[in-house]
Amino acid sequence: MRKWILAVMPLMIGALAASAQVKKPAREKPVPAKQSTGGGAAQIVRGKALYKQYCISCHQENGTGVPRMNPPLVKTEYVLGDKTRLIGILLKGLNEDVEINGDYFTNPMPSQAALKDQEIADILSYVRNSFGNKASTVSAAEVTAVRATIK
Ligand code: HEC
Repeated sequence: MRKWILAVMPLMIGALAASAQVKKPAREKPVPAKQSTGGGAAQIVRGKALYKQYCISCHQENGTGVPRMNPPLVKTEYVLGDKTRLIGILLKGLNEDVEINGDYFTNPMPSQAALKDQEIADILSYVRNSFGNKASTVSAAEVTAVRATIK
């Protein structure tokens, strides 16, 4: 019995390693092929259009922001970190001293709460998968949940 397990172990480890390898390139692609929540490619395409409408004037086309005025959206902890906080920034705006890579930002960001939950989800999904960012998409339900805690 032991022998059998010892013989099978490397196979199992091999299978795990193989499945991990299969997963990796899939994660590097910003857009999963299929998502049941209407997410994925379509969501990110919509998010890009909305970003151009509502965010680009301050954060710029490539998310680089404007030095000392509007912070970048490139691999910041706000963008890649806790989704609740990120959604909260769009719903409430932000008026704090933000430090990113040694550059300080003190201008307030106006609330984007007039946007629909789906629109905020699309924009954040786009931002989290653009400008070199790689992170999970955001669903409308997640935005709805955060909005409920704010009012
Ligand atoms: C009027 C200019 C303006 C607009 C429009 C704007 N922002 Fe901002 N944003 C700012 C400023 C200024 C800050 C920093 C606020 C502070 O220091 O308290 C900020 C901060 C942020 C942050 C957190 C800090 C960081 O860089 O990671 C995120 C995320 C963000 N904005 C995303 C967005 C998204 C997405 C949109 C579009 C829906 C948007 N912003 C629209 C000016 C703007």
